[in-house]
Order: sequence, then structure tokens, then C-alpha cells
Amino acid sequence: MEQALVNAPPEHSDTSFFGHPRGLATLFFTEMWERYSYYGTRALLILYMTAGLQTGGMNFSVMKSGAIYGFYTAMVYLLSLPGGWVADRIIGQQRAVLFGGILIAAGNLCLASPSLAAFYSGLALLIFGTGLLKPNVSTIVGQLYGPNDKRRDAGFSIFYMGINLGAFSPLIVGWVGEKVNWRLGFATSAIGMLIGVVQYLITSKYLGEAGRHPTRSASPEKDRSQKRNAGFLAGAGVLAFVVLAALNSRGTIHITAVSVSNALGWVLLAIAIAVFAWMILTKGWSTTERKRAAAILVLFIASCVFWGAYEQAGSSLNLFAERNTNRHVLGYQFPASWFQWIQPLFVLMLAPLFAWLWVRLGKREPSSPAKFSVGLLFVGLSFLVLVPPAAHTGVSPNWLNFAYFLSVVGEMCLSPVGLSAMTKLAPARAAGFVMGVWFLSLSIGNWLAGRAGSLFESMPLPKLFGISGVVPVLAAVVLALLIKPTKRLMSGVS
Ligand code: PHE
Repeated sequence: MEQALVNAPPEHSDTSFFGHPRGLATLFFTEMWERYSYYGTRALLILYMTAGLQTGGMNFSVMKSGAIYGFYTAMVYLLSLPGGWVADRIIGQQRAVLFGGILIAAGNLCLASPSLAAFYSGLALLIFGTGLLKPNVSTIVGQLYGPNDKRRDAGFSIFYMGINLGAFSPLIVGWVGEKVNWRLGFATSAIGMLIGVVQYLITSKYLGEAGRHPTRSASPEKDRSQKRNAGFLAGAGVLAFVVLAALNSRGTIHITAVSVSNALGWVLLAIAIAVFAWMILTKGWSTTERKRAAAILVLFIASCVFWGAYEQAGSSLNLFAERNTNRHVLGYQFPASWFQWIQPLFVLMLAPLFAWLWVRLGKREPSSPAKFSVGLLFVGLSFLVLVPPAAHTGVSPNWLNFAYFLSVVGEMCLSPVGLSAMTKLAPARAAGFVMGVWFLSLSIGNWLAGRAGSLFESMPLPKLFGISGVVPVLAAVVLALLIKPTKRLMSGVS
């Protein structure tokens, strides 16, 4: 008996957080507070930008606000790519999470101050902070478990609960922002992130060696050249920024929020093309790896379309809640941003149900492309049900509630499935990179969602919601037809 204990692998020994290592609690609460701040701020963002000066808003047009919203949310996820790299190669995940949290708190405090320059700097800090924190906190979760530890998937499920508990924040942040003062709302987000950072500082000792040090790539030579390239890229980025800002202030060119957001759209497209050209066309990959890369491309496109609809929760649907929905209950008008915690509520309710369903289906469990197709169908339906009320004002809140229910059913079929499909399809030596590809699809989706929000006033709503519904439904049909060939490309991975 004693002998068995001595021989037990050390990774199984810590079971102090619901049977999981104590470090999982540290990461659970860090990510919970980060998502609290992210979704709290996001819930207010487009409402604050479009609100008139008399209500303390920024009085931006809907077109401009949607462009900024799309730019901001797309950049948050795009910067997860360099954020992951910086942690891997230079500072380690643990420090990346700490610095990220501090930047996020600072960013929200900037949003809480009145000047326009502070507003834009605040968004920039949030972009960099989230890019450092979000991908790396998940990576440390993975590192808490040894390679043979069966608790890993369950650990991620618990972590996912933390994400969605945090996403309830519009309940508080939204109320403060809309009912008391917009900028105080952002301060409320900052306080949450600060609590998260303090909690992290006190309890990060439980993480042990997980994510403490950067890893070295196979050869020091390669390591150095990677760092040189990264330095070059960062330098080129800063230089381009300075030159464009100078030309703009001299009046040579006229940079607007909309033009910056448009440019980002092209950059995202170029990155996606470059990534897949590299993964499918270049030498150095085996045939199986290339085929799998083609399968990743199919799922990637589906994911972009999915998030392009889903993430409109914070843009067009947020405006729909504010302007077209009857929010009076027992004589009290609740804030529009309160609709923002309906999705995480459904996630918490449906996630265990779906986990059970997939197990229950056993051998009949659908393949990843099939689940993706169902996910697209549901997110499309979530917009199609909003077409009838779209032309009206004062509509019942249940339209939105029902739409959010459908979109979360879609999320259950696509989001967790996508993550695990990426890990299985990725060549081992490019696992982190492929995870980045998944974040890139989120980035593109968020950009699309911002664009759709921009059109809230200039396009009739039934048409905007109709297009947002029909595109994913069509994508679902195309993907359904592609299930067989995609499965063949996946060569052995289900
Ligand atoms: N709701 C998810 C979250 O906030 C959305 C997401 C999925 C973001 C995957 C990034 C990656 O974490």
C-alpha cells in the first residue's frame, strides 16, 4: 500500500480543487476575472460609443462605432498569436499572464477617463493585455497535468465554467455603465481585473513549474533567427504606425476608424492565405499532414462564418436590445447590456447536457465536420428567427432570448469540438501554431461581427439579420455536402 503511494506519479497527487490540482483554482479565478472584465467592457462598448453627448456617450456614428468594435475585438484575438509566442520563447506563460492582467486593468482605467486619447490608448492596452493573458492562461491549464493524466479534459471543462461565470459581468458592469455612468462601468471592469491580478499574485505559487519558464526551440540557431524575425516584424509595425500617424497629422493622408478597420480586414485575409499556403503547399510536410491542413482549412472557414454571426451579440444584437426591445419588467427598465449574460447562462446550462449527449451517442456520435455543420445551422437560425421582429420596436425580450438559446446550441456543437479537432489534426511540431490558427478564425469572425454592427442603421434590419442568418445556413449546407471528403482529408481523426 505504502509502496503504491510512493510510486504514484506526482501529477496525480494534488487533488485539492474538486479532485484537480490546486493550481487549476488559481487559473480558474484569473480567467474568470479576465473574462469578467472583457465581457463587461465589451457589453458597454458599442452602446457607449453610439450614445449621445447629453447622456455622457461619445456620440460616434453607428458606422464608426461598429468599425472600432470590430477592430478591437478582432485585434484582441489576433494578438493572442504573438502573445503565445512571447510567452513560449521569452517570458514564460506565468509572467505573461501577470503582465497581461496588469495591462488589462490599466486599459479599463484609461477607458474610465474622459479624454479621447485615453479611450484609444485604453483599447490598445486591452488588446495587448488580452493577447498576453488569454492564450497563455489556457496553456498553463494544460501543463498542470502530466501526459497520461486522465483529468486533463475534465480540467478544461471546469476552466470553461470559469470563463462563462466571468461572462456574467454585464449584470454588474452593464448596470453601472448604463444606469449610473458609462465610464464608471469601465472602472468596474478594471476593479474586477485587479481582484484577479491580486488573487493571481497570492496563489500563483500553486502553479509550480507549469508555464514558469520559456521553452527553447530545437536548435539555438533557430531560436535566435526566430527572435530576430520577431524583432524585425515588431520594429516594422512600430515604424509603419509612426509613419502613418505622421502623414495623417500632416494631412497627407486621411486615416479614419473605418479605413483602419477596412485595412485590418485585408490584413486578416492576407494572414489566413499565407498560413494555409504554408501549411498546404510548402515542402516539409508529409501527405497526411497536408491533407489534414486542408481539413483544418474547411473547419477554419466554417469557424469564421460561425463567429461572424455569434459575436454580433456584442454589436448589432446589443443595439437591437437597446433600440428595438421592450426592456420593462414590473415598471423597471433593465439595461440593454443585461442581454449579454444570457449566452453564458445558456452555456452553463447546456454544456453538461451536450457532454452527456456525445457520450450517450457513443459510436453514433457525429464527426467534427458534421457537428460544425449543425453549429452553423443553429447560429443561422438564431438570426432567422429575429427577422420577423426586426422591423419593429418595443418587441418582446423573448425574441432575443430565443435567438441566444439557438446560438448557444450552435456554440456547443462547434466551439469545444473545434478546439479538440485542431489539437488532433495539428502536426505535433506545429501544435501551438494551429491553436493560433483557431484564434485567427475568431479574430476574423469578430471583425465580421463588427462590420455587421456598422450596418445597423444603414441597412434595413430584416435584411441585415436575414443575411446574417442565410450565410451560416448556406455554409451549413455546403459543409454538410463536404462531410465525406473532409473526413477523408482528416485521415483517421474523427
Ligand atoms: N466564449 C469564449 C471565450 O470567451 C469565446 C472564445 C472561444 C474565445 C475560443 C477564444 C477562443 O473564451
